Amino acid sequence: MKVHLYERIWMWAATFIIALFITVVGVSSYVYGLHPPSHVETIDPSKVFTDSRFAQLGTPTLQSDGTIEVQMVASMFAYTPNEVKVPAGRPIRFRLTSADVTHGFLVSGTNANAMLVPGYITEFTTVFPKPGDFLLVCHEFCGLGHHAMFGHIIVEAAQ
Ligand code: CUA
Repeated sequence: MKVHLYERIWMWAATFIIALFITVVGVSSYVYGLHPPSHVETIDPSKVFTDSRFAQLGTPTLQSDGTIEVQMVASMFAYTPNEVKVPAGRPIRFRLTSADVTHGFLVSGTNANAMLVPGYITEFTTVFPKPGDFLLVCHEFCGLGHHAMFGHIIVEAAQ
C-alpha cells in the first residue's frame, strides 16, 4: 500500500502528540500524587454511624490548619445531615462516605462534585466564594429513590 509522504508525516506527528499527552498526564499525576477524591481511607460501611471519624456528623468543625471540616454520610435515599451551613470564602474540607451503595455528591452551581463509594472515605477541599442556598444532589443512580435524594449546602456570608 502506498502512503504519501505528507500523509506519513501527519501520521507520525499525530502518534507523537498522543504519546506526548499520555506521558504528560502519567508523569504529572505521579509527580503531584493526583488521584480521584475517593479511596483516601477505607471504612466499614455498616459501622459508619459509630465510627469515630464521623463523630462530628452535621457539626462543621474548625481544624488547626484553618479549614472547616464537614462530615456527611449518604445512604438510600438521603444525606445525613440533609442540610449543612458553612461560611463563604473559607476552605471547607468535606469528609464523606456511603453507608450502603455508591452515591453521588454534587453541589449544584459549584465545583464540588464527587462519588461516594461504600467502604471508602471521600475527601476534598473547596471554597464557596458566594453565599447562597445550594442544592446538593445525588448524581449516581442508587436505586428507586435516587431522583428524590437531595440536600442543601447553605453558604452564609462570612462574619
Ligand atoms: Cu443516592 Cu442516587
